[in-house]
Amino acid sequence: MAQLWGGRFVGDTDELVYRFNASITFDKKLFEQDIEGSIAHVVMLEKQGILSCEEKDAIVKGLVGIRKDVQEGRLAITDQYEDIHSFVEAVLTERIGEAGKKLHTGRSRNDQVALDMKLYIRHKVVETGEHLEALLKTILSIMEDHLATYMPGFTHLQKAQPTTLAHHMGAYFEMFKRDVLRLWDIYKRMNYCPLGSGAFAGTTYPLDRSYTASLMGFEGPTLNSMDSVADRDYVIEFLSALSTVMMHLSRFSEEIIIWNSNEYQFVEIDDGFSTGSSIMPQKKNPDIAELVRGKTGRVYGALVSVLTTMKGLPLAYNKDMQEDKEVTFDAVETVGNCLALFEGMLRTMRFNARAMEESAMKGFTNATDAADYLVNKGVPFRDAHGMIGRLVLYCLDKKCGIDALTLEELKAISPVFEEDIFEAVGLKACVEKRLTTGAPGSEAMKEAIKINREFLANIWIKGCDDLEMAKGRGTRGEGK
Ligand code: ARG
Repeated sequence: MAQLWGGRFVGDTDELVYRFNASITFDKKLFEQDIEGSIAHVVMLEKQGILSCEEKDAIVKGLVGIRKDVQEGRLAITDQYEDIHSFVEAVLTERIGEAGKKLHTGRSRNDQVALDMKLYIRHKVVETGEHLEALLKTILSIMEDHLATYMPGFTHLQKAQPTTLAHHMGAYFEMFKRDVLRLWDIYKRMNYCPLGSGAFAGTTYPLDRSYTASLMGFEGPTLNSMDSVADRDYVIEFLSALSTVMMHLSRFSEEIIIWNSNEYQFVEIDDGFSTGSSIMPQKKNPDIAELVRGKTGRVYGALVSVLTTMKGLPLAYNKDMQEDKEVTFDAVETVGNCLALFEGMLRTMRFNARAMEESAMKGFTNATDAADYLVNKGVPFRDAHGMIGRLVLYCLDKKCGIDALTLEELKAISPVFEEDIFEAVGLKACVEKRLTTGAPGSEAMKEAIKINREFLANIWIKGCDDLEMAKGRGTRGEGK
């Protein structure tokens, strides 16, 4: 057991207590962040005359050495330390002696862990953005290829009106685009450095918090030292954004599962992204889509877990907050994997344009257009709606579509019908006439594609000006 706080204690920590309290088994994930923060801290301490130049050099050299040794497998982070902060300080002191004991001057584990989590999440915000960017590119290319791939659109999972695959994909483009914008939003709001807040009341040493913040690419220091160590909003906001990403992926997965079913056959998932059955030789199952849909629950779980952990905590730091880590790490990894796998599945999926088109021809998806036809001939919409309703009943009885009726049959419902009705309710016309902004008509779709292509070209600048820097930085940019 290696602890940072033995002085006040006479008795030994109970073995079970030690294990229950320790976080090293999971916060070792924050190892690089902890070193990055420590380097920035001592560089600032030296600038402020709190450490000598020699001390600073020895500490930085020691920290860089520890980082390298862990990365290259020469040094293991073992359970004998309470947490990652204890590990780094203990190994440093072991290696460089007296100077190592000065690392924690003007710092508490409370501001240290808040910083580590911020650095981790900031990096994962950017990484998630990159995953989303790849997915958006794939969706946009499907849109470009399928402007004239007609398919039924649904409401209540009942065929409603015809649309195109480009239009349907475009809906998902908008969702994931909002997800990217949400991430950049979070990035901007969270990008203030808590280090130097101490346990909660700042410190008596003349720290230059703005300088520390600038060393790690933060916009500036946080403004209230009590809030700085008690705040996990950035964790919650990120988990909320990740939950929304999963909600979108899950809806998309659900549709792919339906489209891939024997009944629909709108798509075929590539062999590389399907699985078989141990008993039924014919089966090819959409397991990846199902798993993505299933894993949504655990990401929501992480969000609710941290929200619940935080809800009753008095200011400032409480040990409860240690519970933010495992669920967050799990959620981040889950979403990263889901986004990468989903993108691969979508990119390799085959679309069965014929099945989609045939399906769109059935189910009276042109009924609204038939009513609109009558409206254009002067019939009030409500009357037209009633007439087409009766027409549909007639067709159901005859087991045929509106376009299969004769002009006489149509005229029996309304004398207004003329020969041009057949062109007006044709699948292509029904879609191509829909040209309002955001509608599936190909001219309207081309406009949306153009705007979205531009969005992708500027994805790193649009949401957040300093992301270009953040992209390269990750958590490893400083103090190399
Ligand atoms: N393991 C702790 C956490 O994750 C680090 C902060 C500990 N601070 C303290 N005062 N015990 O929150």
